Amino acid sequence: MDPVMDHQIKQRPPETLVVASSHPRRTRIIAVASGKGGVGKTWLSVSLAQVLARSGYKVLIFDGDFGLANVDIQLGLVPTHDVVDILSGSVTIEEGVQHFRGGTGLSAFSFDVLPGRSGISAISGMDCEALDKLLLSLRLAKQYDFVLLDLCAGIDSVTRHLAAISDQLLAVTTDEPTALADVYAIMKLYLRDRRRVGGDDMHCQLVINQASSHRSGVQTYEKLLQACRFFLKWEPQLAGTVRKDSRVPAAIRKQSSLMETFPASPAAIDVGRLVRQVVQGNLPAME
Ligand SMILES: Nc1ncnc2c1ncn2[C@@H]1O[C@H](COP(=O)(O)OP(=O)(O)OP(=O)(O)O)[C@@H](O)[C@H]1O
Ligand SMILES: [Mg+2]
Repeated sequence: MDPVMDHQIKQRPPETLVVASSHPRRTRIIAVASGKGGVGKTWLSVSLAQVLARSGYKVLIFDGDFGLANVDIQLGLVPTHDVVDILSGSVTIEEGVQHFRGGTGLSAFSFDVLPGRSGISAISGMDCEALDKLLLSLRLAKQYDFVLLDLCAGIDSVTRHLAAISDQLLAVTTDEPTALADVYAIMKLYLRDRRRVGGDDMHCQLVINQASSHRSGVQTYEKLLQACRFFLKWEPQLAGTVRKDSRVPAAIRKQSSLMETFPASPAAIDVGRLVRQVVQGNLPAME
């Protein structure tokens, strides 16, 4: 990396923050899902939370990857409680959530994290009804503008259920053929599940992550769009493309925010744009 450019990337201010001027009237639950693992769901969930929180929104990240939870690891948190404690009733939601504080001075921000639990065969044992109640409590409390649900990769029944009952689904993929095939399966099942729970199919948006350029990201989206049009008679929206950026793994390794460390790096700019689209995109009004 050219040292001058590296310096500029560190110094230039973030140009992409949304402004929390029109808060949603109620809690919006956004599920972040993928068919294939490792496409960037957790990093995107954490980054979306950071940008939204810095813009003044009240945010909770719910680590819904019950088998291999790692939101807390990316944030450098050491949770004292997790979702299993809340579901078992041993702690309340207020006692179970962890508070994350980032930034300094005028750019300080905070959001809450509801940690998952790793290393247990929790997914199959998770009770959909109990999860429904937990999400309903979060909605009724109206404490958060956004609940970001970082889901487990794949199509197990609990993950499918959580995607279907969320207000909005961000289906994440890279341009790898396996990731594309798997995200197509996610969307196909999502349409089926949404009908089952009596919802419409308008709230699913695609995120093309780790794209070599915006152009190639859009081309990847168009490939999926063609398949969805032809086989599903349905058109998913594009929430955005996020470019592959070596500073993403560098920031994760340091357990720091890309938006704070390298605010003008390509992926940080793309996440800012993505947030705008997710918050203000052409989605039907929430009830
Ligand atoms: N835009 C990007 N540019 C470069 N690397 C990225 C980008 N997005 C994600 N990554 C890398 O991809 C890896 C996987 O990210 P992450 O853990 O967020 O994926 P995931 O979909 O949550 O995985 P899992 O399915 O295992 O939960 C990370 O090591 C991260 O550095
Ligand atoms: Mg993950």
